[in-house]
Amino acid sequence: MLEEHDPQAPRGRGLSHGKVILLGEHAVVYGVPALAAGIDRGARAEVTAHAQDEIVFAGQLLPSDHELYSAWAAARRVLSAPPARVALDLDIPTGSGLGASAALGVAGVRALLDFLGHEPSDNRLVSAVDAWERVFHGNPSGVDAAAARHTGVLRYVRGEVPEPVHLREPITLAVAVAAPPASTKLMVEGVAKLRTARPEAFDRVLQGIEALVVNAIGCLRAGDVVGLGRLMDLNQMLLASWLVSTDAIEDACRLARDAGALGAKLTGSGGGGCVIALCRDDPAAVLAAWHSAGLRAFSCHVG
Ligand code: MEV
Repeated sequence: MLEEHDPQAPRGRGLSHGKVILLGEHAVVYGVPALAAGIDRGARAEVTAHAQDEIVFAGQLLPSDHELYSAWAAARRVLSAPPARVALDLDIPTGSGLGASAALGVAGVRALLDFLGHEPSDNRLVSAVDAWERVFHGNPSGVDAAAARHTGVLRYVRGEVPEPVHLREPITLAVAVAAPPASTKLMVEGVAKLRTARPEAFDRVLQGIEALVVNAIGCLRAGDVVGLGRLMDLNQMLLASWLVSTDAIEDACRLARDAGALGAKLTGSGGGGCVIALCRDDPAAVLAAWHSAGLRAFSCHVG
């Protein structure tokens, strides 16, 4: 049962975006640029004063041993903020490669900064969300958190300020939850083991992905969606060579391409989770193919 809260009590509010990675996931952990985009769905947070931390997710008070409490406490410590009550809502699937944890972190920290009356400062936000993300992902590159703060496409290099990429025209994506989620931490660790085992082969793939990302920026600037789709397919092939794809992901990509998508790939850490498909304009045929295969899917516009 939720305690009633004074509607007049001071409160802080924050919003954020879910993300898709158009190209470059996993490679971004090793310093290669990734192309990520905030989508028009994400998280919402509201902070009010409370003697100890309280986290309400989708209207339910979470038990105090839930992982979100450790993340919230880590973010608060960075801001030297007192305990508080935060109510979080999310309209993207969790653990599916759409950056749900970063979206919750950015919305929560924005609401906390608003509650504390701080000017919105990217530095404070970035450090607090980094502490939050470390609780879930170990050693995140920061790409999810960067996309959760912005709309439009970003060129993101680990440790650098994200650069917006100018799109000649918006792009349309279809997104499907292809398989149950996998842990980002475990997928990133799996790729790291491959790197240790076969460093030269690993570096060749890394260089290949970097070249795809550079070319994809050219395609976005020129409005060449056919070229961008091909580059996404190639990125999917290289990600599969790092063993982060699965049969369910490959099937969802094939269904999308057969239904007319210009390119399709996993987005995020893989091992399960979401697939994105680049559509010429109308995503209906791709969504219909996925729905008939029993997959949850939606479309979004980027740029
Ligand atoms: C997860 O959305 C993206 C990865 O590259 C991990 C990271 O960048 O921290 C797999």
